[in-house]
Amino acid sequence: MIRVTIVAGARPNFMKVAPVIEALDRHPGIFRHRLVHTGQHYDEAMSRSFFDALGLPKPDVDLGIGSGSHAEQTGRVMMEFEKLLLEDRPDLVIVVGDVNSTLACALTARKLGIPVAHVEAGLRSRDMEMPEEINRLCTDVLCDYLFTTDETASENLRREGVDESKIFFVGNVMIDTLLKHREIASRDDALRKLDLSPKGYAAVTLHRPSNVDDPARLRALIGVVLELARTMPVVFPVHPRTRARIEHAGLAEQLESRGSLILLEPMSYIPFLNLVMHARMVLTDSGGLQEETTVLGVPCLTIRDNTERPITCTQGTNRLVGNDPEKIKAGIDDILLHDDGAESMIPEKWDGSAAKRIVDVLMERLSG
Ligand code: UD1
Repeated sequence: MIRVTIVAGARPNFMKVAPVIEALDRHPGIFRHRLVHTGQHYDEAMSRSFFDALGLPKPDVDLGIGSGSHAEQTGRVMMEFEKLLLEDRPDLVIVVGDVNSTLACALTARKLGIPVAHVEAGLRSRDMEMPEEINRLCTDVLCDYLFTTDETASENLRREGVDESKIFFVGNVMIDTLLKHREIASRDDALRKLDLSPKGYAAVTLHRPSNVDDPARLRALIGVVLELARTMPVVFPVHPRTRARIEHAGLAEQLESRGSLILLEPMSYIPFLNLVMHARMVLTDSGGLQEETTVLGVPCLTIRDNTERPITCTQGTNRLVGNDPEKIKAGIDDILLHDDGAESMIPEKWDGSAAKRIVDVLMERLSG
């Protein structure tokens, strides 16, 4: 029996662990898994609702870490995770994505000599201002199994000197989850409840510190959103960090008063997928949404100067517009005039079977 500890900490992790757990469950005689939730995200809307929507098992362990500075959060996860690994040592730890919990758990396991697998390895934005880039680089150095979403990511690892025997191009587990729920999401009533019509509105998400922590920059971005809301309804589910920053910058009142701007609490997976698949366009600074819009064929403007997911620009519907309001507005106009997302391609192996490929590799390498 191969004993696997799989880690999830923050919202974007839940969609990634779900298909891996499902694929492990298909081999009950070979794998036994334990799901650890670090508690980095803890609000009902940021955590529990995703477990329910994705049919994830209740975590076997919740470390209850909560919010804090990067060092506090990372340090607390390491201390609690170490205790757990010492009490009951697994044969493998699987981490996903690029959040603080990802790095903290990879580092802890590695120092105890436990092999670590990283799902979504090799992504690089080359922007060391992003905490996620630091997490990605450090995590990949520590891991024994590096599962990549595309060949560019595999190539990044090779160029960093990673041995070929550790790199596995398996595809995109988040797309496994999307494809599995696409049908049910298409029947969700989110659109109807908000009185929106297909292709008649835009969806917005913003949460990156580089966009929301500086009041002047946040004000400028909110200005663009308000202007877009004069053209078409805009749905904006607001991340807790962003809500706090909006209030801090004194922008709350200005935002609440606009009719065609629909501000919501963070949404659960299925209704949000319903909103994204029918949107005329998406404006975002999220990583995962760049990939989801690519597969759904929905034009996406990424409010960042760089992306660790360039394939979404070269093959998909994504374009980088930075955070200069004029460039974002030009991007919006361009989509309205020329782009309905129909030109996009779906990247290789983003086909719903990435988790199966991961488990096949692990079975071959670890069993016997
Ligand atoms: C984290 C990830 C980011 C990911 C994002 C998705 C890191 C470094 N960043 O950023 O890569 O895209 O999750 O959401 O790991 N908060 C709540 N309730 C919660 C969670 C957070 O109120 O359930 C608030 C707290 O005020 C907290 C702040 O949001 O301080 C930021 O949370 P944190 O986990 O530090 O980072 P995110 O910005 O969510």
